[in-house]
Amino acid sequence: MAMRVKVVGVGGSLRAESTSRSALQAALDGAAASGADVQLIWVRDLALPFYTAERAIPAAAHQFADTAYGCDALIWSSPTYHGSVSGSFKNALDWLILLAGRTPPYLSNKPVGLVSTAGGVQGLQAVNSMDFIARALRAWSVPLVLAVPHSRQSFDPDGKLRDEAISAQLHALGAEVVRAARQFQTEGTCDYADDRQFQPDGAAR
Ligand SMILES: Cc1cc2nc3c(=O)[nH]c(=O)nc-3n(C[C@H](O)[C@H](O)[C@H](O)COP(=O)(O)O)c2cc1C
Repeated sequence: MAMRVKVVGVGGSLRAESTSRSALQAALDGAAASGADVQLIWVRDLALPFYTAERAIPAAAHQFADTAYGCDALIWSSPTYHGSVSGSFKNALDWLILLAGRTPPYLSNKPVGLVSTAGGVQGLQAVNSMDFIARALRAWSVPLVLAVPHSRQSFDPDGKLRDEAISAQLHALGAEVVRAARQFQTEGTCDYADDRQFQPDGAAR
């Protein structure tokens, strides 16, 4: 019998009719169809302040970090903003610095599926930015990615996906994330390359 995995989706824009949120939902539907328990965290609902260590940490940031730490795999979906991810999406991920001191740190041993939407055809720029972020957070980005182009044509004005082919590709991406998560479970890995001792001040970051 297949092992149960939990997949957490993080993303969407601050727009009520966010296409990147719809794309995230479709990918999570694919993960659910592969037997995963899924949860969608919309950046708009998180409503996190800009990251700073100089004010009290909001409870929502702790909750978000705990949820990200507790899952087996993630799917990220951001709109493409000026050749990268949106600021609100990046800010949410910056709060995952709260996981720096955990053992293992950050998102170690978690596969992450990468999705973007774009007004034009440059959505891979956002996906590639996510790839850098994933590595910084010790996650494993899944090779199958999807940059949904021409978001105005691919989605209804209310943000709902209307392109069946894209919907199928997002489902496949969700299924691939679940497959990768099961590989990690089978491996039972808990070892990780701890590079924190290489920080200049020896601090766990
Ligand atoms: C500030 C801003 C910057 C954008 N930059 C790009 C871009 O560099 N390339 C592109 O293809 N689309 C760009 N777009 C269009 C968005 O990627 C597109 O509308 C996206 O689907 C919006 O996602 P959402 O529906 O989740 O809000 C930009 C939109 C905004 C608001």
